[in-house]
Amino acid sequence: MRKIKLSMPSLVAARNRKGEETRYVTYKLDNKYNNLGKDKTYYIFTYGCQGNEADSEVISGILEQMGYTRAIEPYASDVVLLNTCAIRENAENRIWGVLGNLKGVKRQNPDLLIGICGCMPQEENATNKLLESYPFVDLVFGTHNICELPKLIYQAYLTKAKVVEVISSQGYILEGTPKHRESSHKAWVNIMYGCDEFCTYCIVPYTRGKERSRHKEDIINEVKDLVAKGYKEVTLLGQNVNAYGKDFGPDYTFGDLLVDLDKTGIERIRYTTSHPRDLDEKTIQAMANCKSVMPQLHLPVQSGDNEILRKMNRKYTVEEYLEKIKRLKELIPNISITTDIIVGFPNETEEQFQHTLDLVEKVQFEGAFTFIYSKREGTPAAKMEDNVSEEVKKERLERLNERVDYYYKKGNERFLDKVVLVLVDGVSKNNKENLCGYSENLKLVHFKSSDMSLVGKIVKVRITEAKTWFQMGELVSE
Ligand code: 5AD
Ligand code: SF4
Repeated sequence: MRKIKLSMPSLVAARNRKGEETRYVTYKLDNKYNNLGKDKTYYIFTYGCQGNEADSEVISGILEQMGYTRAIEPYASDVVLLNTCAIRENAENRIWGVLGNLKGVKRQNPDLLIGICGCMPQEENATNKLLESYPFVDLVFGTHNICELPKLIYQAYLTKAKVVEVISSQGYILEGTPKHRESSHKAWVNIMYGCDEFCTYCIVPYTRGKERSRHKEDIINEVKDLVAKGYKEVTLLGQNVNAYGKDFGPDYTFGDLLVDLDKTGIERIRYTTSHPRDLDEKTIQAMANCKSVMPQLHLPVQSGDNEILRKMNRKYTVEEYLEKIKRLKELIPNISITTDIIVGFPNETEEQFQHTLDLVEKVQFEGAFTFIYSKREGTPAAKMEDNVSEEVKKERLERLNERVDYYYKKGNERFLDKVVLVLVDGVSKNNKENLCGYSENLKLVHFKSSDMSLVGKIVKVRITEAKTWFQMGELVSE
């Protein structure tokens, strides 16, 4: 198959932070592509973080503006896109598996256009492998090429060649895109993109470009518009939201944005993800004082050992992390704190791992995503010596999960017999007689009801049972 390589990624180039001014680009669909999707359907598989989910909403919006409609059956559609994640090897292995299945699908439906986007194409190894071993993939584009999508699809149709466009740049900010939001009561709102932290294990600063903030007016207007459309909750998104606004100067930062968004009338504000070093007093004060900012925080710690934190380039110590937790609990006593933890970082000793367990006991996180360290080619940690066996890493993960789950359940138990406010999402997956939603503290709550008019509303529920992963409750009549 002929290949059109418009541009190829380079992790080394992606490392470069040239200090260029951020470009703000307003999206506009070229008339030429208006009807390209007429009578055609599309389907997107989304993997990875909320950033990818938000990107898929934009990609869906763009495709629908081109005339495509969403397919119910992925493989009976005209365009299938895989929006991929590169954060750990097992995330990538999943994608290679799905691609393996798509080979047969393409044989049966040769007109199906298959595209790969998201973080994986930003890695040159992955894109080379896509080019060499998956000839049936028609389109490969990166995280900085979403606004080119109509042109790329057009070229793929026109030339019947494999079209590859992955630039490794510091990135830009795309405003004014159409969006197909998946929910009509809660919404993702990107406030910044990229990451400049360069934690030594992490591929994200290479795949997502430099830290760059949206203009506050654009964010505030987006939230006001959501309020007008009846949305109840926004989750502010960024790789490191606490760095919001720093690219503009020291005057207007994340805490100021929270205060301004609180005035828009949105009922609930959440945000993710935070970096402990950048979480400042102004933000904690804003969380305490703004009614709409929910009493819940995801604050990834990664390790409870200072030497490992140093090798990870996290730029804080365990003591500094604990100080922030103390301050959060002082000002927001009801807060639920969750975290991310990596075990088996190169050469992690048993003693260093114990320090992580000690930290879990001290903070009593009400939930944690726990991972075994995964080597990412191109990052500094990939070159570090690692003498910890996979077996030991797995065993550490199990020991950690046992403690994490214990406090997860305790976090649910502290609401027993209390009345909480739940934003109702819909029918529970495992029991059609229940509805479910999330409380202010981001606890998943199920309660008996078949009243679909409650979906998208905030209701009072008394918690009657606490499990590890969820709470059961009963609706409290007004
Ligand atoms: N290996 C394991 N976990 C990782 N994370 C990021 N990079 C890696 C890696 N190479 C985890 C971190 C981060 C979360 C999103 O994924 O804990 O906070
Ligand atoms: Fe990765 Fe660290 Fe940036 Fe998070 S803060 S995206 S872990 S480099």
